[in-house]
Amino acid sequence: MKKQRIVHKVTLIPGNGIGPEVIAAAHSCIDATGVAIKWDVQRTGVGPSTDNNIPALSAALLDSIQKNKVALKGPITTPVGIGMRSVNVALRQTLDLYACVRPCRLYPGIISRFDNVDLVLIRENTEDLYAGIEYDCGTSETTELIEWVKKHGGKTLQNDAAISLKPISARASERIIRFAFEYALKNGRKMVTAVHKANIMKYSDGLFLKIFRQVAAEYDGKIDHRDQLVDSLCMQLVRTPECYDVLVLPNLYGDIISDLCAGLIGGLGVAPGINLGSDLAVFEPVHGSAPDLAGKNIANPTASILSGVLMLRHLRELEAADRLEAALKVVLKAGDHVTADLKGSDSRQHPVVGTQQMAEAIISNLTGNEGEIAQTGANHA
Ligand code: NAI
Repeated sequence: MKKQRIVHKVTLIPGNGIGPEVIAAAHSCIDATGVAIKWDVQRTGVGPSTDNNIPALSAALLDSIQKNKVALKGPITTPVGIGMRSVNVALRQTLDLYACVRPCRLYPGIISRFDNVDLVLIRENTEDLYAGIEYDCGTSETTELIEWVKKHGGKTLQNDAAISLKPISARASERIIRFAFEYALKNGRKMVTAVHKANIMKYSDGLFLKIFRQVAAEYDGKIDHRDQLVDSLCMQLVRTPECYDVLVLPNLYGDIISDLCAGLIGGLGVAPGINLGSDLAVFEPVHGSAPDLAGKNIANPTASILSGVLMLRHLRELEAADRLEAALKVVLKAGDHVTADLKGSDSRQHPVVGTQQMAEAIISNLTGNEGEIAQTGANHA
């Protein structure tokens, strides 16, 4: 009897800036594997922001992700210093996508200062300084808070200060730290390193560290563990990244170290990621909307395609995921159909190609789909 073909339903969020270009490239590569996916395209998903500058995520976007349980998302711009808060952060908080998983592996052919990087960064996604609890300079709330701190903490803050709160809870810390150890066990990883600044932030980072030590004790003999100050980690990562395996970090350090790790493996153009909740998964590249590259067909689609590989694995389409990753590896190694950011000084030998052309080169290296190619998918025009 012929095996019934599963049709997966996936929400597709092109985002803005370079988002629509890199997501279109990933979309066509995923469809070319032959895996049947019915894509539900959610173009903006954001309405006008509220008085507190909190973006209003559309019910259609949230419903689609909650119904399909899986999404592939492009980056979305956040104004710097002013205006609306991040749509990306709002989405993670609203859907409780608490675990951000960012594998950081150096592929052969990519120019890097290192030759052996294979680590996984696990970032807490819901709290810390990203909770969005901020009080602007000169407001009555800030004045009240300054008075409160003076009365209860004995510290005199400047009257012209703006204040951001950094909540770190025991519950969220335990959830992400346990996730990191379970991830390490399931993925054959050997060592989990907790990253913090508990020498200075005794209570917030101190709590994160305390919980780490408690949870880590349960994995004694199964997974090695240690902790490290975030500043020391930065220095060691850029000297000996091969000494790290799984990193678990509170939100802000996780965001910053993600970009540092991307720099170890060839840049933001190649760094994929997942945001996971208890039953939802949103796959997205680490990079942002890169307004400097938008609309020029020059952004590197690798990070989005690798996010797609991770998505296929999550959907248990393991063979298709392996084929897509293998095809990408062939193109990266050959180096003659890659975007400008991967070229270094090599561009005189082989001219650079555009986002779409790189995706086409990957598709032409896909094996095993000579017969049927899925006739599903959305129109990105
Ligand atoms: P960015 O990640 O967009 O760009 C930083 C640098 O990396 C730029 O020089 C850019 O050209 C380069 N770059 C990024 N992606 C690339 C790619 N695929 N190929 C080649 N080069 C690439 O960070 P930036 O400029 O700080 O942020 C731009 C906007 O993106 C901001 O509004 C920011 O808030 C937003 N953002 C959104 C994220 C998301 O949607 N998850 C994540 C990070 C930033």
